[in-house]
Amino acid sequence: MAEKFYITTPIYYANAKPHLGHAFTAVYADVLARWQKIQRKDVFFTVGTDEHGAKIAKAAEKAGREPQNFVDEIAGEYKKTWQALNIQYNDFIRTTSGKHKEGVLAFIKKIHEAGDIYEGVYEGLYCVECENFVLERNLKNGLCPDHLIAPKKVKEKNHFFNLKKYLPLVKEKITSGELKITSESRKNEILSIIEAGVPDFSITRGNVKWGIPFPYDKKQTIYVWADALANYITVLDFPDGENYKNFWPADMHIIGADINKFHSIFWPAMLMSAGLPLPKNIFVHGLFTINGQKMSKTLGNIIDPVDIVNKFGADGARYLTLSQFPAGEHGDVKAQGFINKYNSDLANGVGNLFERSLAMMIDYEGGVVDKKSKLDEKIKKQADEVEKSYGKHMDAFQLFEALGDVFSFIKTLDRYINEEQPWVLNKNKNEKLDVVLSTLLFGIEKIIVWLEPFMPSKMREAKDYIAKMQKGELNKKEKLNLFPRIS
Ligand code: ME8
Ligand code: MG
Repeated sequence: MAEKFYITTPIYYANAKPHLGHAFTAVYADVLARWQKIQRKDVFFTVGTDEHGAKIAKAAEKAGREPQNFVDEIAGEYKKTWQALNIQYNDFIRTTSGKHKEGVLAFIKKIHEAGDIYEGVYEGLYCVECENFVLERNLKNGLCPDHLIAPKKVKEKNHFFNLKKYLPLVKEKITSGELKITSESRKNEILSIIEAGVPDFSITRGNVKWGIPFPYDKKQTIYVWADALANYITVLDFPDGENYKNFWPADMHIIGADINKFHSIFWPAMLMSAGLPLPKNIFVHGLFTINGQKMSKTLGNIIDPVDIVNKFGADGARYLTLSQFPAGEHGDVKAQGFINKYNSDLANGVGNLFERSLAMMIDYEGGVVDKKSKLDEKIKKQADEVEKSYGKHMDAFQLFEALGDVFSFIKTLDRYINEEQPWVLNKNKNEKLDVVLSTLLFGIEKIIVWLEPFMPSKMREAKDYIAKMQKGELNKKEKLNLFPRIS
């Protein structure tokens, strides 16, 4: 039986439609899911929307809508966007669904039975846009640094989760590597937060109506983060579903740095309390900023991924989001640079290499290139090296770096063409032409395989074209136009 691989994205707040940051995480996870499938794993890949809590209720009210009706529409926007980006998920979990509510109640029941919930009074600051209890020391000029709003003073009776009982255990799981947090700096960030001390958090809210009622005190609602984190098991039909039995624990939670604490501290602690296995790896990526400020639905400083798809195609958009900077870092997205990047890497890079090589194959050999011909040893060796490095990066979830490997090989093949000058070899009827064209076809087929998880539709198009070409069914005029130049 194939080894399983369960990979998740965060479930995004249904307060507004997605922006390029959400698309980044979704595309990232989609590429990894496709890669794991290529490795013959039995993959389960989930996405969804976080639809309860004060933040959503506030957004619905502002829009003059009933919350349910409002989130129905936003969830639809997410689904449309993921379809436009060709995100091949297995399930889309909505926290207002019956299946999710049932699972949350089963989960909370276990924590309650473990004796880890106690009544208390929360007094402090709350950022409704983070849906987070915040500490004075984490504010910037009194404002939440992500949302640039002042958190509200809150005092309410609610129920707390006994986090302090689990903090040392969470720490041990992280330091022993049983629970991996990637990268090292994100892991250290969590360890120092634990070191500084994390207070018990409220697992229910007293003054929030839009949520799942807390069964042990009907005036209370389950805290939206406890509700949301449980999605990773409810989507698998926790507690009794086949998918839960087959796929939990998660092999990989992909998240942004803004929600690391919830995933790396709160979530494992709650799972331990409920007696459930912990996820194996939490991959934390940096955030897209615009002029240094985090791109945020709340602030509205956003790029709409659907606009990018309309301009550059699904695969172009996928490539542009992943090729900005290594995932570990925060960085400014320069949308003005997208056209240049697309033209230089895709139109003039991959596209041009494929088009001119295949055109020569059709022109000089009728497209029927001898795959068994001798290959250029130097190119073959470089392909082997690139393949190794690419595989290592993919296995380490380093997509930016893996793309770097592929694009260095594209440059290698470009240089190879310029050095060998197949058009001269053809004119002189030089026997070496066979070797050069076979080597180019070999290299192109490698690139197709490597880029497939990133740009699945375009690579399929190239594959189909080559299959036709190899049957001698194409003439000079039927050009491949993989990535048309964009101005
Ligand atoms: O936090 N750059 O939802 P959310 C890169 N509902 N990625 C970004 C980003 C940016 N500027 N902005 C958002 C929530 N993201 C909760 C999650 S999970 C149990 C509940 C991505 O809509 C990134 O993955 O605020 C980040 O962690 C997530 O969206 C936050 O989305
Ligand atoms: Mg957010």
